[in-house]
Amino acid sequence: MDYNFHVMFVVSLLVLVSSFSVRSHGVVSSKNNNHLPILSFDEGYSHLFGDTNLIVLRDGKSVHLSLDERSGSGFVSQDLYLHGYFSASIKLPADYTAGVVVAFYMSNGDIFEKNHDEVDFEFLGNIRGKEWRIQTNIYGNGSTNVGREERYGLGFDPTDDFHEYSILWTQSHIIFYVDDVPIREIKRTESMGGDFPSKPMTLYATIWDASEWATNGGKYKVNYKYAPYIAQFSNFVLHGCMVDPIELTSVTCENPKSIPTGITPSQRAKMDSFRKKHMQYSYCYDKRRYKTLPSECVYNPKEAERLKKFDPVTFGSGRGRHHAKSHRRSHAVSI
Ligand SMILES: *[C@@H]1O[C@H](CO)[C@@H](O)[C@H](O)[C@H]1NC(C)=O
Repeated sequence: MDYNFHVMFVVSLLVLVSSFSVRSHGVVSSKNNNHLPILSFDEGYSHLFGDTNLIVLRDGKSVHLSLDERSGSGFVSQDLYLHGYFSASIKLPADYTAGVVVAFYMSNGDIFEKNHDEVDFEFLGNIRGKEWRIQTNIYGNGSTNVGREERYGLGFDPTDDFHEYSILWTQSHIIFYVDDVPIREIKRTESMGGDFPSKPMTLYATIWDASEWATNGGKYKVNYKYAPYIAQFSNFVLHGCMVDPIELTSVTCENPKSIPTGITPSQRAKMDSFRKKHMQYSYCYDKRRYKTLPSECVYNPKEAERLKKFDPVTFGSGRGRHHAKSHRRSHAVSI
């Protein structure tokens, strides 16, 4: 069964490679920054949980997800995808949002319970006056014992307006974008083995109460005095290869228009500058969690030095040394 799946999977990858080419495309009225078609909610997504806490606005293209004392809420893509470009514009709730997490992510945990894949954008709320932070992460084939988190400030207030958050997933890399600026690139390396997401996934958007870890390691909880917390979503782009949920090996790239194929030199310069300014955490340099540099990490002495200044406890100790107690613990890893 497993073996067959993998054989068929390789076949489907080959099909995918050959079909994921650029084709000319017709006129589409509404497009995102990459000239990809924007779907209405009903075209791409379905209600997942939180009944009336999910509201589709009258235009059919915008959704409000709210969190109150009764429930969070979420939606899920109707289709399963193997690779592609996935994007949404998101406006986050303002003011006091400690403990609140808004997530835009891909997962196949419902199909592969023991060896699921995941690609995450997570927005971590904060106390009033402090900015939201974004976290990115991936898991592959159930690699939940290895967290590959990075966290960043944004350089703008994500509660002021909509901003576009996108994931490009191919066989060889995963790129996270904010407003078309790549902020992280994960290249598939041999040593990652199954840890690189490689099975079909669906898209999810959720808002939920993560009081236990989201803000300063759980120090600040959700305060329902300020509820409902409303996250707004629009500009849905689901531009990949769809996989039949029963016959997982059947892949159709229905609308394979041009998607970014990688990072251009000018985008790379923007990425470097974003990371220099805004990155606050990288698992690669977290010496408390990983005594040796994880194999896929490329050691960048400047990045290491900068993070060490930002958080001397997490990033400063020599690998292999232990810090029994630290008053700055809450500043470090929050999950
Ligand atoms: C993924 O996990 C399954 C089940 O644990 C295992 O049989 C398979 O070899 C793994 N695949 C890779 C590429 O590591």
